[in-house]
Amino acid sequence: MIRRKIVAGNWKMNLTQSEAAKLAAEVCKDGVHYPCQVILIPSFPYLAGVKQALTGSTVQIGAQNCSSKENGALTGEVSAAQLQSVGIEFVIIGHSERREQFGESNAVLKDKLTLALKYRLKPIFCCGEPLKVRERGNEQQYVEQQLEESLFPFSQAELEQLVIAYEPIWAIGTGLNATAEQAQQMHVFIRGLVQGKYGSSAAQQLHILYGGSCKPSNAKELFSCPDVDGGLIGGASLVAKDFLAIIAAAQ
Ligand code: PGA
Repeated sequence: MIRRKIVAGNWKMNLTQSEAAKLAAEVCKDGVHYPCQVILIPSFPYLAGVKQALTGSTVQIGAQNCSSKENGALTGEVSAAQLQSVGIEFVIIGHSERREQFGESNAVLKDKLTLALKYRLKPIFCCGEPLKVRERGNEQQYVEQQLEESLFPFSQAELEQLVIAYEPIWAIGTGLNATAEQAQQMHVFIRGLVQGKYGSSAAQQLHILYGGSCKPSNAKELFSCPDVDGGLIGGASLVAKDFLAIIAAAQ
């Protein structure tokens, strides 16, 4: 089965409003050809403005996080329902920076997934091991537990709404990407787990993105792996030329 590739730019907590507007405009310039599905994922205050800038283009928009709670007295949180109400299509759930710096557990991430799915957002669910775990050779068990506890409680219909991003923590923002072989191996492992739980058609339809120091110089090799269905791009998504080169690599 051919899965159309996805390239998503996770801008993290970067850019001012005018810089965000400029970057969105450069990515969506008239005449740019996208061989893949493109998603921009800015900070909350820019979601509405960037969405506006994407009008008429095929580029889609996502948020970087949502609350694990439905609504209420939760100062500083943003709910899945609120994101839906401003037309957001995707939401990153379980980025390692949220897991590590904001203590988001597999159980909390399951709650976030529940609400994201309830409000028809497409979750980009991140998983991936820290360096110590890989050094011990336990990366597969580690990722399996993340999926088991956060994702596998959901039904097949729900699973079909989401995208998985494999992001080894040691590769994020370090300049040291996983090799194509390491990425492919883990993606095959993840697809195999999904196949065991949901069957082969669900596994074949599932998009599994790679993230972690993906850049113009390595994107083509990573994306040529049969089970790597595109990328979740951090640093390189902040430079229009680099992000467009990565998009071009996703044929
Ligand atoms: P990076 O980040 O491309 O800067 O390594 C990827 C991510 O965190 O999604």
